[in-house]
Amino acid sequence: MAKPSFLPPFMFGLLFATFGVILSAKYSSITVDQSALLALKSHITHDPHNFLTTNWSTSTSVCSWIGVTCGSKHYRVTALNLSSMDLIGTISSQLGNLSFLAWLDIHQNSFQGSLPVELTNLRRMKYLDFGNNSFNGKIPLWFGCFSKLQTLSLYLNNFIGVIPSTLSNLSKLEMLSLGGNQISGRIPNSLFKCKELKFLSLFNNSLEGNIPTEIGNLTLLKTLHLGINHFKGKIPSTIGNLTTLKVIDLAYNNLSGEFPLVIGNLTSLRELYLSYNKLTGEIPLVIGNLTSLRVLSFGNNKLTGEIPLVIENLTSLKILYLSNNKLTGEIPSIIGNLISLTEIDLGLNYFTGEIPSTIGNLTTLEAINFSYNNLSGEIPPVIGNLTSLLMISLFDNNLTAKKFVTP
Ligand SMILES: *[C@@H]1O[C@H](CO)[C@@H](O)[C@H](O)[C@H]1NC(C)=O
Ligand SMILES: *[C@@H]1O[C@H](CO)[C@@H](O)[C@H](O)[C@H]1NC(C)=O
Ligand SMILES: *[C@@H]1O[C@H](CO)[C@@H](O)[C@H](O)[C@H]1NC(C)=O
Ligand SMILES: *[C@@H]1O[C@H](CO)[C@@H](O)[C@H](O)[C@H]1NC(C)=O
Ligand SMILES: *[C@@H]1O[C@H](CO)[C@@H](O)[C@H](O)[C@H]1NC(C)=O
Ligand SMILES: *[C@@H]1O[C@H](CO)[C@@H](O)[C@H](O)[C@H]1NC(C)=O
Ligand SMILES: *[C@@H]1O[C@H](CO)[C@@H](O)[C@H](O)[C@H]1NC(C)=O
Ligand SMILES: *[C@@H]1O[C@H](CO)[C@@H](O)[C@H](O)[C@H]1NC(C)=O
Repeated sequence: MAKPSFLPPFMFGLLFATFGVILSAKYSSITVDQSALLALKSHITHDPHNFLTTNWSTSTSVCSWIGVTCGSKHYRVTALNLSSMDLIGTISSQLGNLSFLAWLDIHQNSFQGSLPVELTNLRRMKYLDFGNNSFNGKIPLWFGCFSKLQTLSLYLNNFIGVIPSTLSNLSKLEMLSLGGNQISGRIPNSLFKCKELKFLSLFNNSLEGNIPTEIGNLTLLKTLHLGINHFKGKIPSTIGNLTTLKVIDLAYNNLSGEFPLVIGNLTSLRELYLSYNKLTGEIPLVIGNLTSLRVLSFGNNKLTGEIPLVIENLTSLKILYLSNNKLTGEIPSIIGNLISLTEIDLGLNYFTGEIPSTIGNLTTLEAINFSYNNLSGEIPPVIGNLTSLLMISLFDNNLTAKKFVTP
C-alpha cells in the first residue's frame, strides 16, 4: 500500500493524537456544563409546566435544551434563561461550573434559600436577574467579584442586611435593582463609584439616613427609585447635576426642607414623585422648565403658596397630584392649557374662588378631585362635556350645581 509521500507516518500519529485531545477537551467541558445543569434540575422540586422535566434530557445536547444558549465557537453554555417558569427550588453550587456563563435570568420563579458562593467562579457574568423569587439572607459581599457585571437585579426577594460596599467594585454596572426587599442601613458612599449606573432602584426597603450628596456623581442616571424607605433630611442639590434623569421617585420617605431649585435643570424629567414626605416652601417657578413632565406628584407634603402660573408650560402633563398640602389662592384658569391631563387631584388644600371653566378643555380627564377646599360658585357646566371622566369628587366646598349635568 502506497503511503502518501508528503506526510511521514509519525505525523499521522501526531495529527490523530491532537484531534483526540481536542475531542476529549470538548467532550469533557460540555459534560461539565451538562452535569452542572442536571444538578440545577435536580434541585428544582417543582416544575408545574414541565418545562425541564422531559426537555432537559441527556439524549440531546445541552445546547438544544430550553432556556440554554451556547457560544457558537466553543459550544459552551453562555446564557441561561429560566425566567417566568414557576419553578420552585434552590440554586445548586454546581451552577458555578458553567464557566462560560455570562447571562443568567431566573426572574419570576420561586427559588429559595441563599445564593451559593461557588457562583463567584462565573467571572464572565454580565447579566444577573434573580428578581421576583424568594431568596433570603444577606446580599452576598462576593457580588463584588463580578467585575464585568452590567445588570444586577435582586428586586422582590427577602434579602436583609445592608447594601454591601463591595458593589463599588462593579465599575461596569448600569442597572442595580434591589427594590422590594428588607434592606436596611444607609446607602454606602462606595456605591457612587459605580459611575456607569443608569438605573438605580432601592424602593420599598428600610433604608435610612440622608440621600447622599454623592448621588450627583451618577451623571448617566436616568431612573432613580428611592421611594418607600425612611430617608430624611433635604433633597441634595447635587441632584441638579443629573441632567439625564427621566424618573425621580422619592415618595413615601421623610424628606424635609424646600425643593432644591436646581431641579429646574432636569429638563429631560418625565416623572417626579415626591408625595408623602414633609417638604415645605412653595412650588418653585423653575418647575416651568420641566416641559417633558408626564407626572408631577407632590401630594401629602406641607407645601404653601399658590399654584405657579408657569405650570401652563407643562403641556405633556398627564397626572397632577397636589392633594393634602397647604396650598392657597385660586385654581388658575391656565390649568386649561394642560391638554394631556388625565388626573388632577387638588383635594385637601385651601383653594378658594371658582372652578375655572377652562377645565372643559381637558377632554382627556378621567379623574378630578377638588374636595376639602374652600371653592365657591357654580360648578362649571362644561364639566358635563368631559366624556372620559370616570371619577369626580367635589365635596366639602361651597359649590352650587344648578346647571350641572352628570356625564
Ligand atoms: C427542548 O426545547 C427546545 C426549545 O423549545 C426545542 O427546540 C427542543 O426540540 C426541545 N427538545 C426536546 C428533546 O424536547
Ligand atoms: C427569556 O425567556 C422568556 C420566557 O421564555 C422569554 O419571554 C424572553 O424573551 C427570554 N429572554 C431572552 C433575552 O431571550
Ligand atoms: C462542579 O462543582 C461542584 C461544586 O461546586 C464541584 O464539587 C465539582 O467538582 C464540579 N464538577 C465538575 C464536573 O467540574
Ligand atoms: C474586585 O475586583 C477585583 C478584580 O477586578 C478582584 O480581584 C477583587 O477580589 C474584587 N473585590 C471584591 C471585594 O470582590
Ligand atoms: C464624587 O465626586 C466628587 C467630585 O468629583 C469626588 O471628589 C468624590 O470622590 C466622588 N465620590 C465617589 C464616591 O466617587
Ligand atoms: C412593600 O413591601 C412590603 C413587604 O415588605 C409589601 O407588603 C408591600 O406591598 C410593598 N409595597 C409596594 C408598594 O410594593
Ligand atoms: C418619619 O419620621 C417619624 C418621626 O421620626 C417616624 O415616626 C416615621 O415612622 C417616619 N416615617 C418614615 C416613612 O420613615
Ligand atoms: C454638582 O452640583 C453641585 C451643587 O449644585 C455643584 O456645586 C457642583 O459643581 C456640581 N458638580 C458637577 C461635577 O457638575
